Amino acid sequence: MKWGNMPIQRQLPCSLSAYGRRISVRFCSSGMTLDNINREAVDRIIRVDHAGEYGANRIYAGQMAVLGRTSIGPVIQKMWDQEKDHLKKFNELMVAFRVRPTVLMPFWNVVGFALGAGTALLGKEGAMACTVAVEESIAHHYNNQIRTLMEKEPEKYEKLLQVIKKFRDEELEHHDIGLEHDAELAPAYVVLKSVIQAGCKVAIYLSERL
Ligand SMILES: [Fe+2]
Ligand SMILES: [Fe+2]
Repeated sequence: MKWGNMPIQRQLPCSLSAYGRRISVRFCSSGMTLDNINREAVDRIIRVDHAGEYGANRIYAGQMAVLGRTSIGPVIQKMWDQEKDHLKKFNELMVAFRVRPTVLMPFWNVVGFALGAGTALLGKEGAMACTVAVEESIAHHYNNQIRTLMEKEPEKYEKLLQVIKKFRDEELEHHDIGLEHDAELAPAYVVLKSVIQAGCKVAIYLSERL
């Protein structure tokens, strides 16, 4: 098919401005169109969210490695399946916006799996405590991004906002599932949750910048 005959949503991003700080982008695979977006802000948002969803996938992989054959296995698998969709969407957005992943991906691969498996070794309650801690942090992080985008020009970020809001709601569902499955009965729940959430803050800070 000739370039000029391609459906508009399949054409590649274009119109980079002279200094690269502001950019006009046409999403190629997602069908989204944004003009004059703030390149730096969107880079940061997509990079950190991609890293977060990747980390979440590794956590659930670690939990499944330990608890996959137990009665809680299907509950974890269902949440993991949603995380796979989240990661797929951010993979698409990275390509569409030409955002590079964080250099810390290999690190999050190992740390995420270790966190998931390590907390699952404490039992079902430990895994669920991890889920509650991480999902609460991610939902809070998504809320901050929603606020940031709303304060800028919400109409320009409408599609991205829709994605983030949908995922925020699903992370909150995961958080509630964790509570429903006895997260608070995990050994040293309060300490465990605080430590994991401190780690999430560091992970978010680093993934936005590196
Ligand atoms: Fe997610
Ligand atoms: Fe989640």
